[in-house]
Amino acid sequence: MWLKDSSIGRKLVMSISGLALVFFLLFHGAMNVALVFSEEAYNWICEFLGANWYALVGTLGLAGLVVLHFVYALYLTVQNRLARGKDRYAVTAKREGVEWESENMLVLGFVVIGFLVLHMANFWFKMQFTEIMHILGAHDFSVSEFAPTDGAGLVKALFTTPIWGQVYCVLYLVWLVALWFHLRHGIWSALHTMGFNNLKWMKRVKCIGTLGATLVVGLFAVVVFYYLGYGIGELCAQAPAVVEAVEVIETVPVVDSVEVVVDTVQTVVL
Ligand code: HEM
Repeated sequence: MWLKDSSIGRKLVMSISGLALVFFLLFHGAMNVALVFSEEAYNWICEFLGANWYALVGTLGLAGLVVLHFVYALYLTVQNRLARGKDRYAVTAKREGVEWESENMLVLGFVVIGFLVLHMANFWFKMQFTEIMHILGAHDFSVSEFAPTDGAGLVKALFTTPIWGQVYCVLYLVWLVALWFHLRHGIWSALHTMGFNNLKWMKRVKCIGTLGATLVVGLFAVVVFYYLGYGIGELCAQAPAVVEAVEVIETVPVVDSVEVVVDTVQTVVL
């Protein structure tokens, strides 16, 4: 088949599936920004996108696009390497005008997919999947203390729980940096494949790639920074109590110290 057997056909499948995923990310990022303004509004959207038939069709379509994009990426890379043969190793110096991300798209894709698996475990599994299980009759199925429609509660807990929340914020920021590089080149490359490749359009398409990647990643980053600030604020608010606890611990004779340390820590934490 043309879409599988010709190089341009394969690139077209990559471009169309990639751009469709960018549109999903734009929607997802914009929807998440609601968290900063109103948790109720966000939960209303989560309920709307729960285990309804249209949301399930959307999820299946999305999963299909991710698999298609991923499988074709592997296929294209293998075909390119076979076509270049040993020449691939002939030039090792950095090629002039070739951006770093364009040579590392597959690695960046693996990083994005790797974090996506973690993301699905953190949210999709505890929300839509749990709802599906309940609909199928497994009423006791529960993997979280939050209701499957309480997206705001889940996001807040993931990003603001002391220490782990801040670790997650940093992990998500690493993910977003990889996503930015992947999207910047991906959007450019997709538009290039679709015919915007003459001299006049080359610069514009590069600019569209950078702006598109920055918009998508910026929407997600707003939410991560919002909760990172919130979590650090909470930690700072607890700091005087922790200092007080340390001072109490320091005055305790060594013999009963273990018991008092445990008591003091419990009073501060609870
Ligand atoms: C601040 C960052 C993010 C937050 C707070 C967030 C939050 C969420 C939540 C709460 C869900 C579950 C919705 C539901 O199942 O009803 C979800 C699903 C999902 N997220 Fe994210 N997300 C973020 C970033 C990302 C990024 C960067 C990607 C992709 C690169 C992504 C891809 C997905 C996908 C594919 C789903 C499943 C959608 C579906 O079930 O149809 N998310 N996200």
